[in-house]
Amino acid sequence: MATQKGRSPPGHFLFRSSPLIEESTFLLEHLRSALEDRGDNPHVLDIGCGSGRDAIIMASKGWQVTALDRDEKGVKRCGALAARQGCNDLFRGVCVELKKSGDLLDVLRREGHSDRQYDAVIVNRTLHRETLPEIASLLRPGGLLLYHTFTEGNSHPTDPKSVLGVSELRDTFSPTLDILRDEILPVEDGRLLTFFVARYALLMMRTPSNMNLAGSVQDLKEVSTINSNPPKNGPGATGVTSRSCQGCVEFGMGIPGLTLGMF
Ligand SMILES: C[S@@+](CC[C@H](N)C(=O)[O-])C[C@H]1O[C@@H](n2cnc3c(N)ncnc32)[C@H](O)[C@@H]1O
Repeated sequence: MATQKGRSPPGHFLFRSSPLIEESTFLLEHLRSALEDRGDNPHVLDIGCGSGRDAIIMASKGWQVTALDRDEKGVKRCGALAARQGCNDLFRGVCVELKKSGDLLDVLRREGHSDRQYDAVIVNRTLHRETLPEIASLLRPGGLLLYHTFTEGNSHPTDPKSVLGVSELRDTFSPTLDILRDEILPVEDGRLLTFFVARYALLMMRTPSNMNLAGSVQDLKEVSTINSNPPKNGPGATGVTSRSCQGCVEFGMGIPGLTLGMF
């Protein structure tokens, strides 16, 4: 393919996505293709996108991307990079500074987005504590939150506003999200960052021990909309699978390795 001199061709990047996004490639790709198979457009929100190392790579893979940052130049650079990669139709940059509780939901509503709009929310090296609890309400059923930022105890940053407490993400999201990964690990320069992945369950249902499972599966129909084309044969033929576990119910989507609800 002919390219302008000095420019890399679409799909070739001079940068890499952040470590948590790289490590979650399988999970994200699995979710993206499952949604596309069902006729949905996978949509990711990048909060504090910076120059777009995650946002642009995700758009280039077919995700519709909404990327927020207070740095206007950074947002413009992201737009230019998306155009160069040939994915600007999938990229929307929004320049906004989150200042207080409610700001995240407000800006997304101004963008015309409804609640539960996103299949993934990614936050890398950014923390705006006041709007942290708002993130869970943005995820669609089965949607993923990937949070990768500095914890306390590093040489920098040390400003308490910019660093997470060791159990802060778990404490914030465990009432609403299903936590898949919660680790604090060093990156290349030795600093510690969260590797946190959580999912908004397809259905959250704590059940009494004598619950009639058949009835609960029936009730599940309304939340199984993304599984509108279940396979006719083989695993997942019924579309929604369920099993009881310690007084709870687990629901899968008939997709190997992708159980979307688990409590
Ligand atoms: C360290 S950079 C990380 C950029 C990108 N996520 C990455 O990992 O490469 C943090 C970004 O968050 C943005 N940011 C920090 N606080 C913000 C706030 N309150 N509202 C909007 N953007 C913010 C900054 O402008 C900056 O671009």
